[in-house]
Amino acid sequence: MHGLKRLIIFISMFAAISEAQYLLPITKNETTKQYYTTINIGSAANSPVNLLLDIGTDLSWLNCRKIKSLSSLHLVPCQSPTCKSIPSNACDGKHCLYLQQSPFVKNHTVSTVDRVVQDKATISTKVSFRPFTFSCVAQTHIQGLSPPIAGVLGLSPGEFPFWRQVTRAFNIIPRFAICLPSSGNGNFFIGGGGFGVSMTLTPLKIVGSDYLISPTSIYVDGIPLSLNPSLLESGAKLSTVVPYTVLQTDIYNALASAFTRKAIVN
Ligand SMILES: *[C@@H]1O[C@H](CO)[C@@H](O)[C@H](O)[C@H]1NC(C)=O
Ligand SMILES: *[C@@H]1O[C@H](CO)[C@@H](O)[C@H](O)[C@H]1NC(C)=O
Repeated sequence: MHGLKRLIIFISMFAAISEAQYLLPITKNETTKQYYTTINIGSAANSPVNLLLDIGTDLSWLNCRKIKSLSSLHLVPCQSPTCKSIPSNACDGKHCLYLQQSPFVKNHTVSTVDRVVQDKATISTKVSFRPFTFSCVAQTHIQGLSPPIAGVLGLSPGEFPFWRQVTRAFNIIPRFAICLPSSGNGNFFIGGGGFGVSMTLTPLKIVGSDYLISPTSIYVDGIPLSLNPSLLESGAKLSTVVPYTVLQTDIYNALASAFTRKAIVN
């Protein structure tokens, strides 16, 4: 009997991935159409920082001057496993650096070198974990972000996005869901059981660091656009930063002319 009990405990230790779910708020700035969430960073009891949700960013970054108490913030040594596992990392001789691209800069040659840091993060009011790994950016890199937003929360499929750091820290199911509201407040779920959303109709594909869906056709007032099917083959990339949709030029032209014709007829 004793042996059996031990066996059960042993098995459940390995199956002990929790169904726990954490809920964070999402706010939309109606003027800029930017979506952000609020987490607490640092050792101060209450140090909220608003961060733009970006499913295209891996390592989160922010203006670290917005953190109320910097006493527990520390730099990451170049020789640490964390630094070595960050893609496009660099070293200033002692501390880990990261070549960060802004989600707003179309010109990808523009990027900055930021310091990789770690601190405590608190979500869902009283739930904390450390270390939360992110980078501190120079003031000039904040361009494109409107107050009260102080940085970008990385939610890419990569190795260092915020959602992956949370699910690893709490050993919960590695997934997240975001409900972006057309106005007002939305929800950001991390971990947990079902979200009550079926992915059967619109399967999500992960290609490199992009989340893609595969549209098969585009309809204007019930009539499909005549497009070369190869144009849709590479899929459509989802973005939480560029409002609405960016279309490949040929698709845009076909859609715009079909829409204009319909608008004139009606
Ligand atoms: C990108 O920006 C850099 C720096 O501002 C500039 O030198 C370069 O010409 C730009 N490249 C393109 C393709 O616009
Ligand atoms: C939304 O962004 C604008 C432009 O930066 C800013 O002036 C305004 O205060 C923001 N609104 C809220 C509710 O934060």
